[in-house]
Amino acid sequence: MKFNTPATTNPIDTLRHVGKPYDRVDGPLKCTGQAPYAYEHHAAVPDAAHGVMVGATIAKGTIVSIDDAAARRAPGVLAVVTAANAGALGKGQKNTARLLAGPEVMHYHQAVALVVAETFEQARAAAHLVKVSYREAKGSFDLASVKDSATPPKGERNAPPDTRVGDFEHAFDGAPVKLDATYTTPDQAHAMMEPHATTARWGGDKLTVWTSTQMVDWCRTDLARTLNIGKDKVRVVAPYIGGGFGGKLFLRTDAVLAALGARAAGRPVKVALQRHQIFNNTTHRPKTIQRLRIGVGRDGRIQAIGHETWNGNLPGGRPEVATQQTRLLYAGAHRMTATRVAVLDLPEGNSMRAPGEAPGMMALEIAMDELAEKLGMDPVQLRILNDTKVDPEKPNRPFSERRLVECLRTGAERFGWKARNAKPAQVREGQWLIGHGVAAAFRNSPVVKSAARVRLGTDGILTVETDMTDIGTGSYTIIAQTAAEMLGLPLDRVKVKLGDSDFPVSAGSGGQFGANSATAGVYAACVKLREQIAAKMNMTEPVFADGVVRAGGVSQPLAKAAESGELVAEDVIEFGELAKKNQLSTFGAHFVEVAVDSVTGETRVRRMLAVCAAGRILNPKSARSQVIGSMTMGVGGALMEHMVVDKRLGFFANHDMATYEVPVHADIPHQDVIFLDEEDEYSSPMKAKGVGELGLCGVAAAIANAVYNATGVRVREYPVTLDKLL
Ligand code: MOS
Repeated sequence: MKFNTPATTNPIDTLRHVGKPYDRVDGPLKCTGQAPYAYEHHAAVPDAAHGVMVGATIAKGTIVSIDDAAARRAPGVLAVVTAANAGALGKGQKNTARLLAGPEVMHYHQAVALVVAETFEQARAAAHLVKVSYREAKGSFDLASVKDSATPPKGERNAPPDTRVGDFEHAFDGAPVKLDATYTTPDQAHAMMEPHATTARWGGDKLTVWTSTQMVDWCRTDLARTLNIGKDKVRVVAPYIGGGFGGKLFLRTDAVLAALGARAAGRPVKVALQRHQIFNNTTHRPKTIQRLRIGVGRDGRIQAIGHETWNGNLPGGRPEVATQQTRLLYAGAHRMTATRVAVLDLPEGNSMRAPGEAPGMMALEIAMDELAEKLGMDPVQLRILNDTKVDPEKPNRPFSERRLVECLRTGAERFGWKARNAKPAQVREGQWLIGHGVAAAFRNSPVVKSAARVRLGTDGILTVETDMTDIGTGSYTIIAQTAAEMLGLPLDRVKVKLGDSDFPVSAGSGGQFGANSATAGVYAACVKLREQIAAKMNMTEPVFADGVVRAGGVSQPLAKAAESGELVAEDVIEFGELAKKNQLSTFGAHFVEVAVDSVTGETRVRRMLAVCAAGRILNPKSARSQVIGSMTMGVGGALMEHMVVDKRLGFFANHDMATYEVPVHADIPHQDVIFLDEEDEYSSPMKAKGVGELGLCGVAAAIANAVYNATGVRVREYPVTLDKLL
């Protein structure tokens, strides 16, 4: 099905299931420990040996030799895999550094070996016996000192070129009120709950991996490329994923090493990266330096807006496009954005939790707060004043839906914004200084081709099959709701099977495109199945509801259509020009109250409110969970999360959950989420968009702004830790 014209009224609009706050259909399995994760497929693979990765202990250089003799002699050891014995390996399209180093080492804890043994303890003990000697090269680890050597990213699909409209410099110089400020966001770790893990089994020349990935087909493609085997020889199974946050978008070393280890040991092998390895072995969100220049008239209208961002990465690595939202969020005739990447020899920077907008909004939305203060204007009002209905770079390109103003107004009302004291450091409760902050929320909402297969069984059960993943987000549930809606079945007559490369290729989970795109793919397959059923039953324009199919006064149980054999339909939704001619984005507003200890500088978040306009909300309960999870990440980003670079040795020093601080329950106060009523006819037949990442974009700035309001101290370097307030 091609989605080329705005969605009209369709069977989803009946909203018998879609839009209902159903509990997760996979909830009971997860809560009772019956949902197997990548390291836990004991039933399917009872005889797996254990692999432990050995990581490089230099950041840059070459491996001179590896002495694995002692490791091979250690009790229980079955195999030791290194680049020297693994055979020729290719490189995944989406990987920057190789997933098994040798002879070149590109970053600290890049895998150099895998030790396979009968037990995990034996493998771990033997891993310590692998002796690697290196020739170390001098690396570069500090963004600030290489910033001036940064260049525009080349040939990168995620990097828009620098943008320019009008004459930014001239307009900025002439603006009556100007802000020119530089902000930094630190290196951050995904810190998902389930580690990167894979169980691998060979059957002849065919490989099956049970792995933790957000994108089944990307994993399959790049694993085949890395192992130099046909894609048809690889099956990827990922029914449950314990969080990804972008860190599992791409093939990682656990899958490659498990496959190589299983081949070497002649039996299945499972590998889970240990927590202390994840921080330097896998990807992370790279540090950014961002300069914002905004010139406004005395009336508060933006005349010139410029945003430049710098990050570092391995040679060939991606930019962090922190300028994305600045191209679209506010009006203004004269504009420029620029993205630059410098070479750093730290581990690979890549997508993490709303890449681009999350760190971009951390800077832009403090800048707006600073401007409001310069103007003596309410920061909610300043944002409303600079709203735009069209893409400010391309005035004939409208937003499909844009309710930023409504989000800000609704939030201000609900939060009690009027009562805020605009003058900083005025409100005290004992030794606590109280402050309030606001930020807009913005995240693009791309649409991605997505396929699904549906089967109506002779028992009347509808089964959905797609390689879509559920990374803890609720995909199982919204897909079940979609199929139930389309065929008029109760939810418990629908079975959803996900995360298997034997199923049709879906959008996968990433960039908040999964929910809308994957359900639209299921919609398309269900449309085909409805046609088959209509033909089978000899009905014209039948209605599917309450487990029956009806037309012209005749009503039959749906199961009857399949009485002579299962009916199967498959389709793919493809998105065309519509998504190019209209800007698909999601909008929101974040309001926060903080208390800052006037003696210690400790910040406690006391109240958070998010208002979101993100198309049709497919399931308000799982959507709310997405948003409060994101708001929690925003607290981490604002106040805690920060990987510290050891600039001599070139690694992230705080590489465990004891020293990489993330919010815990005690850090999280009352959180409230409001969804505006919206249907986006340009997004898909579902009229939905993404919402998970929207919930993150802007939160940290709202907190930083609230801290400023509480204390009068403006912190432009995240995280806002107490040392910066004293
Ligand atoms: Mo998200 S960082 O695109 O998985």
